[in-house]
Amino acid sequence: MRLLLNNISGLFQTEDGTATRARVYGQDMANIPSITNAWLLIEDHRIHSFGKMEDQPQSHADEVIDCTGQSVLPAWCDSHTHLVFAAPRDGEFVDRIKGLSYEEIARRGGGILNSARKLNETSEEVLYEQALHRLNAVIATGTGAIEIKSGYGLNLEGELKMLRVIRKLKENSPATIKSTFLAAHAYPIEYQNNRPAYLELIINKILPIVSGEGLADYMDVFCEKGFFDIDATAQLLEAGWKYGLKPKIHANQLHYSGGVQIGVRHNAISVDHLECVGDEEIEALKGSNTIPTLLPGAAFFLGMHYQPARKMIDAGLPVCLATDYNPGSCPSGNIPLLLSIACTQLKMTPEEAVNAVTINGAAAMELQNDLGTIKTEKKANLIITQKIPSLAYIPYDYGNNPVQKMILEGKIV
Ligand code: NIG
Ligand code: FE
Repeated sequence: MRLLLNNISGLFQTEDGTATRARVYGQDMANIPSITNAWLLIEDHRIHSFGKMEDQPQSHADEVIDCTGQSVLPAWCDSHTHLVFAAPRDGEFVDRIKGLSYEEIARRGGGILNSARKLNETSEEVLYEQALHRLNAVIATGTGAIEIKSGYGLNLEGELKMLRVIRKLKENSPATIKSTFLAAHAYPIEYQNNRPAYLELIINKILPIVSGEGLADYMDVFCEKGFFDIDATAQLLEAGWKYGLKPKIHANQLHYSGGVQIGVRHNAISVDHLECVGDEEIEALKGSNTIPTLLPGAAFFLGMHYQPARKMIDAGLPVCLATDYNPGSCPSGNIPLLLSIACTQLKMTPEEAVNAVTINGAAAMELQNDLGTIKTEKKANLIITQKIPSLAYIPYDYGNNPVQKMILEGKIV
């Protein structure tokens, strides 16, 4: 099957030549290579070739789409979500408006523990249907690859149930999905007075089964004051590595907790959140392979201060952005809205923000060889936009959906 896109007004994030850029750093993030008035040919699942309309060779296509006035980009890569959950937490939203903090709500047994109670009362089938509905909604706003975490089970059955839901999504959705084991999201009530016993349960009981059944690609820990401290995080990450699960961790959301440094020390693929980042954290990230992933949707929704994106980009780091889609701190998986927040609040340029959710988002899921740029042989996961005048129009036109059509695995969805 050959699908040809013609008269593309802007084909963005192109790569030619043989060397694949694995991620973009610092000042290179200001650049999105592009071709104006372009064509692109898809063969089966993959990008076959592309170029300028004036140089288009004669070639057969089964279907042709005219993209006059429209742009084409690689589909977004959302490297941090909690898309599987049982119920919204709109009551806590109102509590926060009235003055309670996110941490206070958690201390009172709300927050993650609230979601865990609901999840453990909900069947795998219902969780799957709800998650699939959310996944389809984020695909419609441009997402083509997504990482999804467990972490609302907080016991053997609940965690396995969540990971099986994610596996079923992997099997049935055209989106590319990575799965992350996050039993270390909060201490369950029954372990509040015996925290080491919960670590023991995760490490010696749940982790071996998760690994044995191949249910996770990564290991996550909510490294934070009041949640998992540095010693517990280190213990969990070492155990994860033993079972072949690389770390991608929650770090420095609420405090300067040392989470960034412990992530770097354990060769984390990414450290995520980073509201509380200063010179020491930036120094630790420089020269490491760990990707700093910013989740400003959570800072927006919780009314917290934003991540110092400018400082991190100016320091030469490969900054990534992700939604953190979850029922508590960010009930939105909408990447176009995230781009608007990144531009207006973090002062990232539209090009930097788009690099952060394409090539760097792919790298934060180790998908850079297959996704994140428009390159021959890469998977054809593409956004065809509405008629838009520029790349900057996407974050400018905030609250609206720039996507007209999505192509995943070479097919219109
Ligand atoms: O990334 N901070 C920890 N975990 C999630 C929120 C989970 C929740 O509130 O349900 C986050 O913000
Ligand atoms: Fe999160």
